[in-house]
Amino acid sequence: MNFPADRRFLLAPSILSADFARLGEDVSAVLAAGADIVHFDVMDNHYVPNLSVGPMVCQALRRYGIKAPVDVHLMVTPVDRLIEDFVEAGASSISFHPEATVHVDRALHRIREAGCKAGLVLNPSTSLEVLEWVGHRLDFILLMSVNPGFAGQRFIPQIEKKISTLASWLTAQGLSVPIAVDGGVTVSNVGRLAAAGAEIFVAGSAIFGQPDYAAAIAAFRWALMGGQA
Ligand code: DX5
Ligand code: ZN
Repeated sequence: MNFPADRRFLLAPSILSADFARLGEDVSAVLAAGADIVHFDVMDNHYVPNLSVGPMVCQALRRYGIKAPVDVHLMVTPVDRLIEDFVEAGASSISFHPEATVHVDRALHRIREAGCKAGLVLNPSTSLEVLEWVGHRLDFILLMSVNPGFAGQRFIPQIEKKISTLASWLTAQGLSVPIAVDGGVTVSNVGRLAAAGAEIFVAGSAIFGQPDYAAAIAAFRWALMGGQA
């Protein structure tokens, strides 16, 4: 399954801020409200100090009838075994952190071979250099703008420059790879992040944490069209 191609900017609500007791219903509601992608955060209490959900829950969402792209963000180590499990569970894209595996190139290759889009996730302190020899294997790059592990943290402002530096590097390399940003993304900063070069916006609390999902998504789209929050 591909990311929707008709939109320049894509909104990916993170399930971490959804209601886990009624996840299918809540994810359906956010998609009906206009979200593009379901961002599925997987935490193992090892790579990050928190525990969330695994492939069975991804499969349960598919069985419930969720048709939208499911973007699996692995915050786990080891990475490899879970790739196949999430492919079978219906993932559309899978990303992981380079620090979490010894064989980054192989894991990226495996994700694509299995028919999913492949992404690398860079922590706030991780240098862009890790991308140098794997650009050809990437369908997207996810820049963390908080330290991974929890929803509702404050955006780290230095990441705005990291987005523009990465965008320039990708252009210089002749690579057309979308930049996603995850952590502390709000209606107030999303316009600047788009101007810096990001195209996919993960947002947990700023969407699922709001009482009216359609209003929250409309506010994001307005900000992405240049409106000031
Ligand atoms: C953090 C997760 C994020 C998180 C974002 O480790 O990867 O996807 O849910 O939540 P907000 O948007 O609330 O920072
Ligand atoms: Zn995430």
